[in-house]
Amino acid sequence: MKISNVTLAFENKIVLRDIDLNIWKWEFIFLIGHSWSGKTTLIRALIGDKEPMVGDIVLDTWMALYKNMNDEILQEYRRKTGVIFQDYKLLESKSIYENVAFAMEVCGYKNDVIRRKVPEALEQVGLLVKKDRFAYEISGWEKQRISIARALVHDPDVIIWDEPTGNLDPETALGVMKIFDDLNKEWKTVIIATHDNNIVNSMKKRVVAFQDKEIISDQAQGWYIL
Ligand SMILES: Nc1ncnc2c1ncn2[C@@H]1O[C@H](COP(=O)(O)OP(=O)(O)O)[C@@H](O)[C@H]1O
Ligand SMILES: [Mg+2]
Repeated sequence: MKISNVTLAFENKIVLRDIDLNIWKWEFIFLIGHSWSGKTTLIRALIGDKEPMVGDIVLDTWMALYKNMNDEILQEYRRKTGVIFQDYKLLESKSIYENVAFAMEVCGYKNDVIRRKVPEALEQVGLLVKKDRFAYEISGWEKQRISIARALVHDPDVIIWDEPTGNLDPETALGVMKIFDDLNKEWKTVIIATHDNNIVNSMKKRVVAFQDKEIISDQAQGWYIL
């Protein structure tokens, strides 16, 4: 997708100004920046949840998000974009399997699709063997993986994680990165917003840094530079 001349604001408070950024299909990209630098707001813009004040986000289909899209197409786009936010909510009294299945029920999927997709997604995050455990029995690391599985059931072309390693130890963070690396090898575009230098430096992927409402650097096989 091509982000051109995008300015994002709340009321009249500008969060990001004049952003130009191309994210290629099948790319693996980190968005880095300190707290409040606008990472989450940009992600919201990319997933169809926050319209820019100025500028365009043109998708690979050549459609401009928000502009030449009716509600139905925008809904479909949102579904095809797998996003994982920090505050994943799990139902503690349900099993791992049920937590993923429930997310699909809410979206109106048919039962046979749910029965097929849930095990597939759990397998992708290495949780199939634990599918009958209850949410309250499992570690933070496993909860993170449930939230990834919930995004994967929609077969997204793009998978976005906003601040994945909030409460994770370094070893766990690397485990999560392995999952994303594998997804990227299966031709999914991966976008990760983070301020965790360990994961960024361990991956040697493209790193785009935000500061003072702007992109201050864009490195191909980059480091955490802030
Ligand atoms: N819903 C909102 N309403 C008003 N201001 C917001 C809202 N969300 C974010 N902001 C402001 O936008 C700026 C960027 O926030 P955010 O995108 O969450 O940054 P980051 O994800 O990099 O920490 C902050 O100054 C924040 O206060
Ligand atoms: Mg954020």
